[in-house]
Amino acid sequence: MKRLARLIPIASVAATFIASANEAWSGWGGSILNNHWAQTNTDITSTSIRTLALQCTVPDTVGQSAPPAFQDNYAYFPTWNGSFVALNYKTCHVKWRINTTQVIVDFAPITPLQAIANQAVARTSPQIDAANSVLFFGTQIHALVVAVDLATGDLLARKQANPHHLATITASPTLYDGLLFVGVSSGEENAAFFTGGAYECCSFIGNAAAFRFKRVGAAGGSFTTVWNVTTIPANLAAANGTGGRWSGAGIWGSQPPVDARRKQVIFATGNIYSIPLAYVPCSQSDDPSCLPSYIWQESVFALDMYTGRANWVRRLNKLDAWSLTCGALGSPQNFTLCPQKPGNDYAVDQQQPVGRRVGRDGSLLWQTPAPGANYSVSMPTAVGDVVVVGVTGTAGFSPPGPSALLALNKATGRVVFEYPIPGAWQGGVAVQDSYLFPGTGYKGGTGGAFYVFKVR
Ligand SMILES: *[C@@H]1O[C@H](CO)[C@@H](O)[C@H](O)[C@H]1NC(C)=O
Ligand SMILES: *[C@@H]1O[C@H](CO)[C@@H](O)[C@H](O)[C@H]1NC(C)=O
Ligand SMILES: *[C@@H]1O[C@H](CO)[C@@H](O)[C@H](O)[C@H]1NC(C)=O
Ligand SMILES: *[C@@H]1O[C@H](CO)[C@@H](O)[C@H](O)[C@H]1NC(C)=O
Ligand SMILES: *[C@@H]1O[C@H](CO)[C@@H](O)[C@H](O)[C@H]1NC(C)=O
Ligand SMILES: *[C@@H]1O[C@H](CO)[C@@H](O)[C@H](O)[C@H]1NC(C)=O
Repeated sequence: MKRLARLIPIASVAATFIASANEAWSGWGGSILNNHWAQTNTDITSTSIRTLALQCTVPDTVGQSAPPAFQDNYAYFPTWNGSFVALNYKTCHVKWRINTTQVIVDFAPITPLQAIANQAVARTSPQIDAANSVLFFGTQIHALVVAVDLATGDLLARKQANPHHLATITASPTLYDGLLFVGVSSGEENAAFFTGGAYECCSFIGNAAAFRFKRVGAAGGSFTTVWNVTTIPANLAAANGTGGRWSGAGIWGSQPPVDARRKQVIFATGNIYSIPLAYVPCSQSDDPSCLPSYIWQESVFALDMYTGRANWVRRLNKLDAWSLTCGALGSPQNFTLCPQKPGNDYAVDQQQPVGRRVGRDGSLLWQTPAPGANYSVSMPTAVGDVVVVGVTGTAGFSPPGPSALLALNKATGRVVFEYPIPGAWQGGVAVQDSYLFPGTGYKGGTGGAFYVFKVR
């Protein structure tokens, strides 16, 4: 997975979504639109944010691994140490805590290669089906879609979204009209990198799938696959054996937004891992026809939500065959193992803006740098007249922090409030009524916590 690829979440379908009052923050992107906009929240403003006070924290040995979803007074979120937590954020009481590592191990034992490539945890925000009292999430190892009872955390069912040994679910799912939309990626690049090439890269092909869950009684249920679409035709890889093969185009970012009016769901893919040798020249070519149209790499595509048929596919870049062995910030390059001479697309500025507002025509309205010598990889959340966003810290990509919560004036980008947060905060901030929920920590094991803040 190329962490730094610039795949922008799609938020242009906002007009089709009519939010009701007190809409619950429902997962990674806040709503089925994945637009990080708490549109109906009137409690958090540039005035009330100044009264921000810590309500409680739920520490974790590694940290929070994805933002929560809410139902009634509960926040549901995964952690990097392999838990899934149901927290009453008003009383700070943990209702249940499940061992997601156990859910993974009980499906199938974890092989040494899987352990090199991914963690045995969930790092997706959940989706909640309140009517049936079900909570859904995805797992890293084994790429499982999991359904648990919302009230107890008891396992109801799990289904593998892709049987590849190193497949992983890292993009958060979206639930809409009884369909759970899931994107699958892999840890193959990690496997090739951390084994010094002993694991031959690569054979995984990304896929998007829709599942329907039928609950049966109190303790059971089952998933059925409604459709399943690969991002590269699945039969090509085997056909091309030794001449090199197409692999990659995993779906790993963010959360698929739903365009309810057009009955479609939108996904984005990352880079290609490996290519047939005949296509190597395409990475240097600006001719879009050089890359076959069926290779959906670094693409955004809209699938009919009921059939999986592609309504449109838009490729954003020319052929970008890349694996961790090609080098990235803080990791060594090994050109022998890199599928091509890498371009410069991963050379990002160390000091990134903490916030930016862009007009409908693409013009830049404002841009605010992270204060001091800091950077931010936090997703901004728009609420009331502010944008709330995290300062990540001063160091490299797995930083020690210290972090801070910033509130920027939505119209001007001016910093109106800053609140220090210990540890390293890389994720976004979920908001619910008068509460804000950042979470710190990353898989490196620096420790972290789920935070509950409240404004008056
Ligand atoms: C994760 O850490 C928490 C807090 O230290 C602990 O209570 C919990 O048992 C751990 N969970 C797992 C699955 O190891
Ligand atoms: C979670 O399950 C794993 C796998 O069985 C086990 O190693 C670990 O000790 C469990 N953690 C807790 C906190 O029970
Ligand atoms: C989706 O298709 C791929 C490629 O054929 C297959 O390996 C995978 O098992 C399918 N997933 C589901 C959930 O049907
Ligand atoms: C790069 O990978 C090749 C093939 O595995 C290996 O022989 C070589 O030692 C590696 N080079 C470095 C600098 O790690
Ligand atoms: C398979 O590889 C050969 C030679 O490397 C190439 O000419 C051909 O176009 C490839 N086919 C596909 C479907 O990628
Ligand atoms: C940002 O960087 C400076 C050092 O340049 C540091 O003093 C400051 O505390 C950092 N953090 C925040 C949240 O501003």
